[in-house]
Amino acid sequence: MPAAQERLSMSTQPPVVNKQFTVLDCQAARTQGRKIVVVTAYDYPTAQILDEAGVDIQLVGDSLGMVVQGHPHSLTVTLDEMIYHTKMVARAARRSMVVTDMPFMTYQISPQQALENAGRIIQEGGAHAVKLEGGARSAAAIAAITAADIPVMGHVGLTPQSVHAFGGFKVQRDEDRLLADAQAVAQAGAFALVVEGVPAELGARITAGIPIPTIGIGAGAGCDGQVLVFHDLFQYGLGRRPKFVKSYANLSQSIMDGTRSFINEVRQGTFPDAGHQYTS
Ligand code: KIV
Repeated sequence: MPAAQERLSMSTQPPVVNKQFTVLDCQAARTQGRKIVVVTAYDYPTAQILDEAGVDIQLVGDSLGMVVQGHPHSLTVTLDEMIYHTKMVARAARRSMVVTDMPFMTYQISPQQALENAGRIIQEGGAHAVKLEGGARSAAAIAAITAADIPVMGHVGLTPQSVHAFGGFKVQRDEDRLLADAQAVAQAGAFALVVEGVPAELGARITAGIPIPTIGIGAGAGCDGQVLVFHDLFQYGLGRRPKFVKSYANLSQSIMDGTRSFINEVRQGTFPDAGHQYTS
């Protein structure tokens, strides 16, 4: 059996634990020019595989509202749902850092509300850090959360929770505003910044204009790292994918093919065969 396959089949064995990726590693990666790799995760088996494969950060994204729950946007996702999914991912993360999105309306009302809800994500969910959207308007919330020693990842550009204000999921091009937003987030104490849905030149300009690592999604190659949604990365689900996505596997096709084979074998009576049943 090839080594990789053997390792995968040993699903009950804990993987070799390397040092856990931390906020310090994130900053060191930028300084040393090593790209940071982030993938979204929403459940235990997926998080186990991503961790074993070696991603740096697993993001429990509120994109789960769309790719897991089937909604048209992320606005209906609740804090309890985020905590529920974070628990599963955190249980599997031995090496990767777990960052969890703060859902819509769990940090906008006041810095106190933001801190209380970030605390729940860390304490109940087991995440290492939280992520929240918005630039200058979110600076007070970021400052309150980081003052309690909870690391915060910022998120500017095409922030999905702003979908109605933006009139749809539209690429953001206001250079001066986005750069000022990125600087406000860094100034407030965030350890990293997701930059989403901006022209590649602007992604590079934001990266050069702030002292913390940028993680791009549809923001070009000039960012310090890249993040993609698991379901886009591996074509899991039958929805359309944005232009910036590159898929590295087609899980939908594999599941479709496997399901059709199972249906055929059950209907033809060839499953279960002698090798897949008990004898008396
Ligand atoms: O919710 C999410 O998955 C995200 C990423 C797309 C960055 O915020």
